[in-house]
Amino acid sequence: MELNDLIYESTKSKTLEDGSFTWKSPSNIALVKYWGKRKDQIPENSSISFTLDNCFTETTLEFRKRESPMKIKEDVGFLNATVKSSFSKHEIFLDGKRKPEFDEKIGVFLMRIGKHVSFILDYDFVIKTHNSFPHSSGIASSASGMSALALCIMSIEKALNPAISDELFYKKASFLARLGSGSAARSIEGPLVVWGKHDKFEGSSDLFGVKFSESVHENFKNYQDTILLVDKGEKQVSSTVGHNLMNNHPFAQQRFIQANENLIKISEAISSGDLKSFISIVESEALTLHSMMMTSHPYFILMKPNTLEIINKIWEFRAKTNSNICFTLDAGANVHVLFPEKEKNIVNQFIVSELLQFCQNNHYISDRVGFGAKQIH
Ligand code: DP6
Repeated sequence: MELNDLIYESTKSKTLEDGSFTWKSPSNIALVKYWGKRKDQIPENSSISFTLDNCFTETTLEFRKRESPMKIKEDVGFLNATVKSSFSKHEIFLDGKRKPEFDEKIGVFLMRIGKHVSFILDYDFVIKTHNSFPHSSGIASSASGMSALALCIMSIEKALNPAISDELFYKKASFLARLGSGSAARSIEGPLVVWGKHDKFEGSSDLFGVKFSESVHENFKNYQDTILLVDKGEKQVSSTVGHNLMNNHPFAQQRFIQANENLIKISEAISSGDLKSFISIVESEALTLHSMMMTSHPYFILMKPNTLEIINKIWEFRAKTNSNICFTLDAGANVHVLFPEKEKNIVNQFIVSELLQFCQNNHYISDRVGFGAKQIH
């Protein structure tokens, strides 16, 4: 599927005055990390993630036809667009409270996707959103939030053009979500999603995420992810700044090659059930992501002392018990503890007795692999 296949054709359209759609869309945790992007949100390497289940955003998009449609200038650049909030009339509510501070971000998003879903120019929007995880948990809501909004917009497209296939619906939802936040492209489906063109993965694309098409061994079914909230503060480095650090990074090219190789290796481990190899790739990916930040200019250390305490405890526990517990990290201090479902009891006991002491106010979130977004209404 090419870029042109993702452009809405108004000729097929029904009329639609107003209405609303609601989608619940999950967060995801990358196993092979996306870090570094080109113009138009094109990733420098392929990535793969587990879709989560309990961490999600639920968004309702209310729409009403405008008296006169907005005009979009063809020459509006992708990243240097500057008008943003005047592009459409939209109001955002988080947990029932009006949030004018989100207007610009959503305005930029609507502007970026306008070329592909031109019908949005005809409507005013009210966006009502809620995250299952607390705002101040240090968990990024951009993947779940952008994918939920993208799906609501696709529901409008489907209402206008009911003949759209399911395949196109989900691919285009992922495509739109990607334009909001790269990792959001991986939050539409589950349990495992690959994003970024890779010769070894047929159908993979830089434009949208696709379901991991190889077989998934029993060991990886219903995999658990307990998120330890080490630092619930605002992100120290925004993702835009973070990705930009990979431009002119001395190790960047090697890193992109390594990620693409790791994708092949982890895919073999997931199909054959090789937990040991899975663990070594996942942990190495997390530490490599942080190494990239430590070796860029400017440089950052996003781990906290308690992040390292947790990692060391996990390694000790693994050596002592031969458990298949492992960790991964996002671009922050929180730790995702991953383990097979059949080790749930023993690992949960270990987390409660040994790891919670390193979390802010003992806070953590028990999650597991999920199957993607759901339409609520
Ligand atoms: C470290 O998707 O948040 O979580 O495309 O700029 O919105 P933008 O970045 P974002 O980057 C996520 C980076 C990561 C790794 C990953 O999820 O693959």
